[in-house]
Amino acid sequence: MAMTTPVLTIDGLKTWFHTDDGIVKATDGVSYDVYPGETLAVVGESGSGKSVTALSALRLIPEPPGKIEAGRVLYDGNDLTKLSKRELRSIRGRKIAMIFQEPMTSLNPVHPIGRQIMEPLLIHRICDRTEARRRAIELLHRVGIPAPEARIDDYPYQLSGGMRQRVMIAIALSCKPDVLIADEPTSALDVTVQLQILRLLKELQQEMGMAVVLITHDLGVVAETADRVVVMYAGRVVETASLHDIFYASVHPYVAGLRASIPDLAVKTDRLPVIPGQVPNAARLPAGCPFHPRCPRVMERCRSEDPPETAVQLGADGATAAAHRVRCWLNGEEARP
Ligand SMILES: Nc1ncnc2c1ncn2[C@@H]1O[C@H](COP(=O)(O)OP(=O)(O)OP(=O)(O)O)[C@@H](O)[C@H]1O
Ligand code: SF4
Ligand SMILES: [Mg+2]
Repeated sequence: MAMTTPVLTIDGLKTWFHTDDGIVKATDGVSYDVYPGETLAVVGESGSGKSVTALSALRLIPEPPGKIEAGRVLYDGNDLTKLSKRELRSIRGRKIAMIFQEPMTSLNPVHPIGRQIMEPLLIHRICDRTEARRRAIELLHRVGIPAPEARIDDYPYQLSGGMRQRVMIAIALSCKPDVLIADEPTSALDVTVQLQILRLLKELQQEMGMAVVLITHDLGVVAETADRVVVMYAGRVVETASLHDIFYASVHPYVAGLRASIPDLAVKTDRLPVIPGQVPNAARLPAGCPFHPRCPRVMERCRSEDPPETAVQLGADGATAAAHRVRCWLNGEEARP
């Protein structure tokens, strides 16, 4: 893929929660770039920091107990971690929109859906009320809600889960954002509806040219939709690569484990825990590489030394693939004579 300038850059983000149980390092130096028009999948098991990264980027973390301790989030020449609440509001929802993990809690139960789609257009003063209503109907139509003129005044409880998720997409797309962050947009839905929603997202993305950051723990979903993939583990990015390399040339043993956990799509039931062990408690990470207690390829140094992120070495000649990065001491090991 041709690499232009990223539309969004997360650089060294550390979001920590100060709890009674200690400091939970939910993200501990997360970096990734999002390029215009691409679908970047962010994958990892529950608790790896996928949502906290995205929420921090838009400064939607509850502070306290959360705090952005370090790092930058660059959009259009601005560091979003440094903007005022007011400046941030002009970007959130308009330039960078988000679909949240829980569709039930993120739609307002006491307002009709039409009003919720119109709201961002009115808040950002993109158009007047009449035009906003016209656009809301058009958006409802576009996301596949039948008879939108009749449904626009429905309340969320009157819709099925799949329909509510379509409404969430309509709200997120109302201002034609440059970046759409979709956090597990389909995991609450049954498989058929999941596929319909993912296809719809892909279509809308191609139509509008926006970048999509798709957060998921389902590598099956990744295979269907992503151009590039960021794999997270215990609050860090452990491997970044093209979709092809994640499936055929990954280095990190965790990624191999995730791949082995993809159930046959035809008999897909639920998440299958096939990597032995659990994600460590983010308040008490093990020394060295945080994956070492579960790693089938653990070496002596892994127990005490945390590997830095490095470009993947392609062979013994020391050549590297700059776009493919990994945090694992195995990088280069095989290549060495
Ligand atoms: N408000 C909070 N207070 C304390 N800890 C929190 C809070 N929000 C998140 N965390 C912790 O931060 C870590 C990362 O959580 P996050 O929600 O980003 O995980 P995730 O990768 O999105 O997981 P999932 O796949 O389950 O959505 C977890 O250990 C979680 O318990
Ligand atoms: S650094 Fe060591 S323990 Fe960590 S993933 Fe690589 S081989 Fe496994
Ligand atoms: Mg999450």
